[in-house]
Amino acid sequence: MQRTLIVDALNAEKTQDNIVLCGWVRTRRDLGGFSFVEINDGSSLANMQCVIAHNSEAYTAFGTANTGAALCVTGALAPSPGKGQKWEMQVQSIAVFGLADPETFPLQKKRHSDEFLRGIAHLRARTNKYGAAFRIRSEAAHAVHVFFHQRRFALVHTPVLTGSDCEGAGEMFRATALSPDEESAGKDFFNRRCHLTVSGQLEAESLAMGLGRVYSFGPTFRAEKSNTPRHAAEFWMIEPEIAFADIEDIMELGESLVHHVIDHALTRCEADVRLFDNFVDKGLMDRLRGMIAKSFARASYAEAVAILESSGRDFIFPVVCGMDLQMEHERYLTEEHFHRPVIVYDYPKKIKAFYMRANDDNETVAAMDILAPRIGELVGGSQREERLDKLAARLRELSRNPDDYWWYLDLRRFGSAPHAGFGLGFERLLMLLTGIANIRDVIAFPRTPGSLKF
Ligand code: 4AD
Ligand code: MG
Repeated sequence: MQRTLIVDALNAEKTQDNIVLCGWVRTRRDLGGFSFVEINDGSSLANMQCVIAHNSEAYTAFGTANTGAALCVTGALAPSPGKGQKWEMQVQSIAVFGLADPETFPLQKKRHSDEFLRGIAHLRARTNKYGAAFRIRSEAAHAVHVFFHQRRFALVHTPVLTGSDCEGAGEMFRATALSPDEESAGKDFFNRRCHLTVSGQLEAESLAMGLGRVYSFGPTFRAEKSNTPRHAAEFWMIEPEIAFADIEDIMELGESLVHHVIDHALTRCEADVRLFDNFVDKGLMDRLRGMIAKSFARASYAEAVAILESSGRDFIFPVVCGMDLQMEHERYLTEEHFHRPVIVYDYPKKIKAFYMRANDDNETVAAMDILAPRIGELVGGSQREERLDKLAARLRELSRNPDDYWWYLDLRRFGSAPHAGFGLGFERLLMLLTGIANIRDVIAFPRTPGSLKF
């Protein structure tokens, strides 16, 4: 079957006979001897209006099909007399594939709450809002690959099953091939503990030390019990790693990446982004344009703390030097102080991971986070500790066994070089692009504490 996508039909230059469109009925109106049927095939936010004459054979085939039904229409693309659309379809024949009983089909033509739609996640791609969100997700992923490809980064695939703990935060899901009664038999698949990865960073570092510039883009898993609108147990991370690079290089890279993806979404998904501007987050498009018109602000951790201290704000988590920044602090910095994303760097080593490079003051590390308005932390990264003695000492200081990191330390034993990288949470970027406030609504099938419905 030679079929045309609705997005292409809507953008056609001239009338066309005998085109075939397939999709799902969004609405049906019967009026003055005709049925006016809006169909959508997911290729764009816009529907195609299909006109079926009541005295035609097509109308008999159409029967009782209504909202939700899947069908295929053949006909002619003709100028539409209706407002808001250039073309409509004059239907000559119809094949109805599947009906959707209006008594039980949950997606009727009214606005449903996000909570309700999360409960029917398997159907929500058929709504305007989620169709738009998932198209933006696809385009944004594409933009990420184009960005790195243009900069000559190699895409690497890091393992999902892992024997190492990158972040050391103890928030890993265990993966086992044992049945519950075989637990502790010491005979598991790998003869050792296995987890789902929390980050592909350590493996990406190893690959960067041969390929030079790499990035991975894959799923990561965290068993954090944070039931917040910004945390998911399964999320996708983009992790570039560059050899012969320092913290300055990755600050620049992170900012360019965010700019690139925003720019791509504004040009390639304009109608979808506008839907979010109209119905979800007023002013979204202007804010996104503003974000790429200017460079991000920068502040050292010490400067950020000083700004918070002099804010006169009564924060729930009091501001003390050495603390980890909380969401309220991140929002104050981005939304009320800088009015744009801000890159905070040189964090105290006590609150950051073992692999971050110690600064000369021995108190801070060459870490950088990109914080964004409403989202908070969007990117977390650092220059890596490339000095063997310092890295091994840091592991011991944290009561970790350097033997467990033998291969990671080998990278420092053999041809060590300064290098740096970061992780960008893809869903948080999508929240920024769409104004969607809950991470559960930018993931087709979200996994969060206590929730694994699909
Ligand atoms: O700051 P994080 O924990 O950094 C790392 O994992 C590094 N190993 C990355 C690297 O340097 N290669 O996580 C990186 C980003 C955060 O800034 C945030 O955007 C996102 O991942 N993130 C989450 N997104 C959704 N749900 C969660 N539970 C997340 N945890 C982190
Ligand atoms: Mg972080």
